[in-house]
Amino acid sequence: MVGKHLFRPLVNKGIIAVDLTYLYRTEEIVLFLSDLHILVPEYGSKEVLKLGNIPIPVPQYKQLLVQVHAAALNPIDSKRRLGPIFPTDFPAVPGCDMAGVVIGQGIDVTQVDIGNEVFGNIQDFNSIEKLKQVGTLAQFIVVEERLVARKPESLSFEEAASLPLAVQTAVEGFRTVNFMKGQTIFVVGGAGGVGTLVIQLAKYVYGASYVVATTSTPKVKFVKQLGADKVVDYTKIKYEDIEEKFDFLYDTIGDCKKYVVVAKDNAAIVDITWPPSHPRAVYSSLTVSRKSLEKLIPYLKSRELKPMIDPTGPYPFDNVIEAFQYVETGRARGKVVVSCFPLQDPHSNILSGVNTTIGVNGF
Ligand SMILES: NC(=O)c1ccc[n+]([C@@H]2O[C@H](COP(=O)([O-])OP(=O)(O)OC[C@H]3O[C@@H](n4cnc5c(N)ncnc54)[C@H](OP(=O)(O)O)[C@@H]3O)[C@@H](O)[C@H]2O)c1
Repeated sequence: MVGKHLFRPLVNKGIIAVDLTYLYRTEEIVLFLSDLHILVPEYGSKEVLKLGNIPIPVPQYKQLLVQVHAAALNPIDSKRRLGPIFPTDFPAVPGCDMAGVVIGQGIDVTQVDIGNEVFGNIQDFNSIEKLKQVGTLAQFIVVEERLVARKPESLSFEEAASLPLAVQTAVEGFRTVNFMKGQTIFVVGGAGGVGTLVIQLAKYVYGASYVVATTSTPKVKFVKQLGADKVVDYTKIKYEDIEEKFDFLYDTIGDCKKYVVVAKDNAAIVDITWPPSHPRAVYSSLTVSRKSLEKLIPYLKSRELKPMIDPTGPYPFDNVIEAFQYVETGRARGKVVVSCFPLQDPHSNILSGVNTTIGVNGF
């Protein structure tokens, strides 16, 4: 009976299949009609974040309805909340990265089945005008099937959620400069979400012959363990004192005006921050796609490429303000991950954090 109630509106809205076993069962009508999200009601600091209900999105042509099990934060989520860098309709829901379970489909979905575990960056930065207002800090999201890949069983939801945006960015830098096996690389900012992946990709995927990365003293050992042949502690070593010269300078911090001294005369220089911090640097931006994730799955399965989750997390969903606060320190070690909203008792949850305590429907 309950199943019929749920299924009919789905069919009416164009969803051709849904697996009700993934829907919360005791308050399912309420949950079906409303989805708990972290909402951004206006531009502002992390304190504007609120917990609220908005309708569960309906998957359209070639889209999936996914129950989010874990999400990851990226600096872009904060930048987008702080000011109008992209078109935004309020209330918006932050979040690009997620891993979860497909529970419904729009029409003409061919690559993914209901029940599949998937991960991806749901925000297609290749076409800014199509950026979604409902991001991944939510119980349910819709996403184009072309943006998600099947989650390898060997990865937890949290590990898988930590990857998409950062790894799509990291890969693109190598493509931008047509990096060749055997070349040497100097990574500025080796401990961050992107930097931790750049080091591993250089060493274990792209065949760099020598990998050096910068970080501060407490993270030197961590960056070495990622595969860096040498770590430059930027609090102790002056960039002018580095004598080696490199084929590729990969800047994840926007600091390459300092480090350009370590680049060979004909070296490629990539900066992923905007605007690039040196006239020689080329800006590189991510390409969002399923294929970019699928190509890395063999390396993820073999653990040559390891997701790096910051040890302060995964943050429970109701501590998302603390998670943002931490990301915004600029000191994260790998990725800041948020676990899914606990479905067992969603209405008992309160969003806690700095200066904010708003309950469900508090928006
Ligand atoms: N172009 C694109 O498509 C694209 C995509 C993703 C991200 N981005 C941008 O790229 C930047 C990095 O992103 P992310 O996700 O990697 O950020 P993140 O995870 O927040 O980076 C934090 C890391 O930066 C390190 N760091 C800070 N200042 C440093 C310095 N002077 N030298 C060396 N390391 C330093 C910190 O290590 P220490 O504590 O040791 O200093 C920390 O581990 C952000 O500005 C982001 O917006 C661009």
